[in-house]
Amino acid sequence: MAEFVEIFEVGPRDGLQNEPRAIPTRDKIALVDALSACGFRRIEVASFVSPKWVPQMADGAEVLAGIRRRPGVTYSALAPNLRGYAGAVAAGADEIAVFVSASEGFSKANLNCSVAESLERLGPIAEAARRDGTRLRGYISMVVECPFDGPTPPAAVARVAAALRDLGCAELSLGDTVGRATPDGFDAMLTAVLGELPPARLAAHCHDTAGRALEVIDAALARGLRVVDASVGGLGGCPYAPGAAGNVATEAVAAHLAAKGYETGLDPARLAEAAALARRLRTG
Ligand code: HMG
Ligand code: MG
Repeated sequence: MAEFVEIFEVGPRDGLQNEPRAIPTRDKIALVDALSACGFRRIEVASFVSPKWVPQMADGAEVLAGIRRRPGVTYSALAPNLRGYAGAVAAGADEIAVFVSASEGFSKANLNCSVAESLERLGPIAEAARRDGTRLRGYISMVVECPFDGPTPPAAVARVAAALRDLGCAELSLGDTVGRATPDGFDAMLTAVLGELPPARLAAHCHDTAGRALEVIDAALARGLRVVDASVGGLGGCPYAPGAAGNVATEAVAAHLAAKGYETGLDPARLAEAAALARRLRTG
């Protein structure tokens, strides 16, 4: 039987957060519903961050209230602080994603605080998640390269990974936020992080600025990672990371994995429909 690789769909969050035009809530809901029919195990549908910082994500509660939940699908949401965590849980998010940067420059730009302060802020979320039995996913950004600070030392990523593990994150997603990693650079970073967590608890999160995302994903697969984040239609970017292009497209990753003999559980025809819808949302 073919080995399974999970594609974690981030389009409705990482994709739509960066769109310059305001996407109507009903269109976001339609995108999530189209994705729910594709066979994903997990879809990141919203973020509960400050609407002053990311106005595109201000309607997260409405999105979660409006989607048709498919049994067996986990609907995730991003939260930067306890207020975001509480909002996401109240709105019915099944899994909460917290996010920190491996570099100081991006931490300041994206969260308005240092890396150490951002980890401290997660303490109350970790406590609440333990109490509520909520699964936590942790993102680490700029794992190879940062537009503010330059190359990120692998040891810095490993330190943040250990801190997130100790806070109780079940899984860590390693973000090449600006899409400039080479396979070798990603591999060197993994050598450090794999000293702290096994590959089964890691995901690769690639943006595709330099067109190398699939090669970087291959490097992650070679190290035993079996979760890959991707965004339908290649939507995406981060408003606080200059130069960050779209996430690697889900349909490209699905086709790449199928060609390598992996099973993803995704229906290519339904995925093509969802990608077409995502592209229509982008162009308006
Ligand atoms: P701040 O300005 O330092 O702190 O922002 P604040 O506490 O003064 O908050 C500012 C305002 O937002 C206040 O409103 C708060 O009440 C409100 P005011 O008093 O001025 O009227 N506020 C909130 N509102 C709703 N929900 C909340 C919330 N929290 C505060 N949860 C803060 C600090 C962390 C809030 C801000 O920096 C922020 O929201 N940052 C998020 C930025 C973001 O979402 N970036 C994109 C996601 S990360 C990403 O894309 C990378 C990833 O894909 C992986 C990768 O590619 O590497 C995950
Ligand atoms: Mg991202």
